[in-house]
Amino acid sequence: MSVTETLIPDYSLPDCNRRVLLTERPEAIPQAGHFAIDEVVPESVPDKHIRVRNVYLSVDPAQRGWAADMNNYSPPVPLGTVMRALGVGVVVESRHPDIAVGDCVYGWLGWQDYAVVSPDQLLYHIGKPRAPLSCYGGILGMNGVTAYLGLTKLGAPKAGETVLVSTAAGAVGSVVGQVARNAGCRTVGLTGSDQKLALCRERFGYDVAINYKSGDLAGRLAAALPEGCNVYFDNVGGTILDTALRNMAVAGRVIQCGTASIASWDPPPTGLRNEREVLTRRLSWQGFVVFDHMADYGLAVEALEKSLLAGELYYEEDIDQGIECAPGAIQALYAGENLGKKLIFIG
Ligand SMILES: NC(=O)c1ccc[n+]([C@@H]2O[C@H](COP(=O)([O-])OP(=O)(O)OC[C@H]3O[C@@H](n4cnc5c(N)ncnc54)[C@H](OP(=O)(O)O)[C@@H]3O)[C@@H](O)[C@H]2O)c1
Repeated sequence: MSVTETLIPDYSLPDCNRRVLLTERPEAIPQAGHFAIDEVVPESVPDKHIRVRNVYLSVDPAQRGWAADMNNYSPPVPLGTVMRALGVGVVVESRHPDIAVGDCVYGWLGWQDYAVVSPDQLLYHIGKPRAPLSCYGGILGMNGVTAYLGLTKLGAPKAGETVLVSTAAGAVGSVVGQVARNAGCRTVGLTGSDQKLALCRERFGYDVAINYKSGDLAGRLAAALPEGCNVYFDNVGGTILDTALRNMAVAGRVIQCGTASIASWDPPPTGLRNEREVLTRRLSWQGFVVFDHMADYGLAVEALEKSLLAGELYYEEDIDQGIECAPGAIQALYAGENLGKKLIFIG
């Protein structure tokens, strides 16, 4: 997509606040039936807070972990409360001296029409957008920043190295591939459909793209990585990770950013044993959680914004219309139905 379209779309100011509540704790991937939508009178705005009209709600694989009662880096969303979600919106009331009515913001706005928040619930104070507002929920949001910081800080790829990426056509993976390519790396992407393969090759600039669902992944990965892979940016775990580890170059770096392929955490999964690969290839394997890197968040957005406006980054978005789409959106994401960053326009 290009960045020449209208930056802020038209949005309405409803009298009521529609909220998507988590009503049942999912054991695996959250389904529509785990949520309910209600309508309440908007709450008042305390001192040092703002009211945001949410325009784009974010749908993220991480919401599976936030909704479940599982071993995670944050406590689960309490039942009966608004589903935790990132969002992009416009400030419609401000009782904070540093944030003006009309400013755009991105942060923990929840799946609802209006959010009353303090600045510490924001990830980024956009102010006046320089790219379409939706971008700040995707390529210039948590997904892009995860890609940029995870790859540059943990993977530290050098020109001429090979970078392998899973969920290569998705919101995070597509940015990882492009940042690596722009740094002079050879890029290999794994994705789950032929339509996404075409996107990987034609839009995201991958040198090689592989559909991991079409069989003989081990053979095709070995053929794509004749000298091994220096950095594996892994968003899926499971058997794809097992296969990738057997194709790492000596001193390769594995970034564990996601585990989208794991069906259940209870009991914890056990799989092929790869200690020998880690030993003989002298691999390092590090987990990445973007929220540990908030000090660098603004710098990452600025770097991505600069590349985007210079035409060096391409992005895809998959935007549903209406808050009614939210309850079923996480299951659709895990089914791989999204083509690019999944957002819901509720303006
Ligand atoms: N650690 C962090 O701080 C952090 C932050 C953001 C995101 N993440 C992780 O990054 C990954 C991608 O997130 P995203 O927001 O960019 O989502 P996304 O890639 O836009 O969408 C999720 C994709 O996951 C793939 N997928 C689903 N089930 C799979 C399976 N069983 N095996 C392999 N692939 C499967 C599907 O793509 P295909 O059709 O290609 O299979 C689906 O489109 C997720 O694992 C997420 O949890 C981590």
